[in-house]
Amino acid sequence: MKRLGILLSGRGSNFEAIAENIGRGRLNAEIAAVISNRADAGGIAIARERGLPALVLPSKGVPREEYDRRVVAELQNRGVELVCLAGFMRLLTVEFCRAFPLRALNIHPSLLPAFPGLDAQKQALEHGAKISGCTVHFADEHLDAGPIILQAAVPVLDGDIEQTLAARILVEEHRIYSEAIGIILSGRWRIEGRRVIAE
Ligand code: GRF
Repeated sequence: MKRLGILLSGRGSNFEAIAENIGRGRLNAEIAAVISNRADAGGIAIARERGLPALVLPSKGVPREEYDRRVVAELQNRGVELVCLAGFMRLLTVEFCRAFPLRALNIHPSLLPAFPGLDAQKQALEHGAKISGCTVHFADEHLDAGPIILQAAVPVLDGDIEQTLAARILVEEHRIYSEAIGIILSGRWRIEGRRVIAE
């Protein structure tokens, strides 16, 4: 069984959806580590409730390279094969990416390359987009930028506020993150330039 490492900073609903799918036998993997840079992350409480190995590595005041070295060491010590960023509010260093080449995924609540960065749902609303959604992509050292694995679209409705749009997108996030992890873990994919092609 492939060993996943989850990195998060907050609520942890994407992590929880992954854990649920593993529990239901929909995803053949195990969670070897849940690491947060914030002690108050909801995701850490969820991990502990589920009896999963949870670790807080505070990032405050730690230089980026040093911080990522610590995280990489923890992941490697636990035999993590695929890293899943799930609301991890930090940019990865080049060194991190080299330690997990095409072995780190991220989820973002927009149809990239539209609306990278913070408050993607708010950005979509303010821009007047009629369709938004979410993207699972390989993480690299740039913000929300690596090759796309899966996307799902949702309508932006006239009555939407940030919270209603975010909730509609979140349903799709929870679905496609596990699906994308399944594709990558299956090994039945290849990459041509930036195109990730499931075989
Ligand atoms: C999600 O919207 C995800 O796409 C973004 O951060 C949010 C994390 O939510 N990267 P949660 O912590 O998984 O509930």
